[in-house]
Amino acid sequence: MLHDPELERLLGTLHARSDEQVAAIESYHAPTADELKTFRRDKLVALDRDKAQLCYQLCRASQARRIVEAGTSYGVSTLYLAAAVRDNVRAAGGPGVVIGTEYEPTKALVARAHFDQAGLSGFIDLREGDLRETLKQVEGPIDFVLVDIWIPMARPALELVAPQLRPGAIVICDNTERYRTEYADYLAFLEDPAHRFRTMTLPFDGGLELSVRVP
Ligand SMILES: C[S@@+](CC[C@H](N)C(=O)[O-])C[C@H]1O[C@@H](n2cnc3c(N)ncnc32)[C@H](O)[C@@H]1O
Repeated sequence: MLHDPELERLLGTLHARSDEQVAAIESYHAPTADELKTFRRDKLVALDRDKAQLCYQLCRASQARRIVEAGTSYGVSTLYLAAAVRDNVRAAGGPGVVIGTEYEPTKALVARAHFDQAGLSGFIDLREGDLRETLKQVEGPIDFVLVDIWIPMARPALELVAPQLRPGAIVICDNTERYRTEYADYLAFLEDPAHRFRTMTLPFDGGLELSVRVP
């Protein structure tokens, strides 16, 4: 689908590495929040292949050029999003960018190496630090948002970006069926008519929230 064999090879390696970590993640029960943070420090927790491919297709179909990603980790989903921006720019010219966010410096360092390896660094503005700071200044109009972040950060991320969404902008959020209760504040934000979203949960593994900003 990406028509980029080198990128597909890199993504194959990264998805496989992420898959290998799933069992350890699922069986881990952190005694404290600090220990959970330490445990997660080297985990990819990459977006599933089919969900990432859907993001690529949605970005191509909507000709997205300004994208925000809450939660970059080692850059797997970022690579799909940046490939979509690159392909949209190739097709129609003009600028394009994916604004990524990651607060673990070691993950950001490795993510940047992946972006270089894929030749996509020119389409990515990776903002290091807590997204509650790094997303305070986001220039609109934003066409597409991927929310793939620890759940308590989902609503703060959306609140910061929502004012910059163009009519028709798409927001995707992972695992909203599996963690329905934990996402209550995020879903309440989407369902408040003042925020002008239509939203539905797609039947991917764990549920995938697809929300559209209406005019
Ligand atoms: C589920 S992972 C993202 C996976 C990534 N989208 C992918 O497909 O490879 C969530 C990431 O968000 C980062 N993160 C969590 N809270 C954050 C915050 N407040 N600000 C910035 N990054 C944060 C974590 O360090 C973690 O790497």
